[in-house]
Amino acid sequence: MSARHFLSLKDCTPEELNGLIRRGMELKDLRNRGVLFEPLKNRVLGMIFEKASTRTRLSFEAGMIQLGGQAIFLSPRDTQLGRGEPIGDAAIVMSRMLDVVMIRTFAHSTLTDFAANSRVPVINGLSDDLHPCQLLADMQTYQEHRGSIKGKTAAWIGDGNNMCNSYIEAAIQFDFQLRVACPEGYEPDARLLAEAGDRVQVLRDPREAVAGAHLISTDVWASMGQEEEAAERIKQFRPYQVDRALLDCAAEDVLFLHCLPAHRGEEISEDLLDDPRSAVWDQAENRLHAQKALLEFLVEPAYHHA
Ligand code: CP
Ligand code: NVA
Repeated sequence: MSARHFLSLKDCTPEELNGLIRRGMELKDLRNRGVLFEPLKNRVLGMIFEKASTRTRLSFEAGMIQLGGQAIFLSPRDTQLGRGEPIGDAAIVMSRMLDVVMIRTFAHSTLTDFAANSRVPVINGLSDDLHPCQLLADMQTYQEHRGSIKGKTAAWIGDGNNMCNSYIEAAIQFDFQLRVACPEGYEPDARLLAEAGDRVQVLRDPREAVAGAHLISTDVWASMGQEEEAAERIKQFRPYQVDRALLDCAAEDVLFLHCLPAHRGEEISEDLLDDPRSAVWDQAENRLHAQKALLEFLVEPAYHHA
């Protein structure tokens, strides 16, 4: 039987995704109560990072240690991947030694090529197209602060990037409406938009997008790999800064999330993360708990269902 992968939120059913969120909350509670839970003893996660990371690396590495296992950090600079070893060959070899692999990469095809040759589960730790692990943390954070997101309205302000694409997949899987406000030419993936149908609306005006919204999220204007476009993007995205006045146009109980790192003075105002409607620090912490649930689900499903 081929391994179960998590390259996109579409790799799980809505029931499985809601189970992961519930389990993330349980594992968080266990950790807060100081209960040791080590279902992944002797299991090893390999982490390939082609791009920088603080949260993703730490949450996966700490998460594996807390679950009783180990994580190995692999950079292309120090492996044969950086010297042109085909990704499929690397996948065959690595997956004979590891129990699960996480990859942060540029082209999404790197993930699918690796997964096609891997005996063990492969997790998308961010690609140019998607960032599904972040959405597990976002959905857990919304659930903890405001309850179920089903039937609610979310607004994505800014770039139609990997995070925005994953919000579209989340809208489909978790059953909420999504409004995207972005400048012309910076829309999310057209195929995903078509798939989402009426569930997702693309608008130009951020105020229209947030009207009555229960969740607002944004992200940097220039993602990793787009550094050379940064100056032009700052010009294009200026009207898309999220500030307190924009949150005031949303529902009274709106929650603000940002995957971080944040650029204060660009996509968010200087003071936004201090606003009581922001839950970004809980959101960052939830990367740990949600991904522990994911690792357990992929590597030791017997515990996950226990
Ligand atoms: N949000 C997120 O993925 O952060 P890092 O780039 O620090 O991993
Ligand atoms: N869109 C950002 C997310 C970083 C976590 C990037 O890809 O750089």
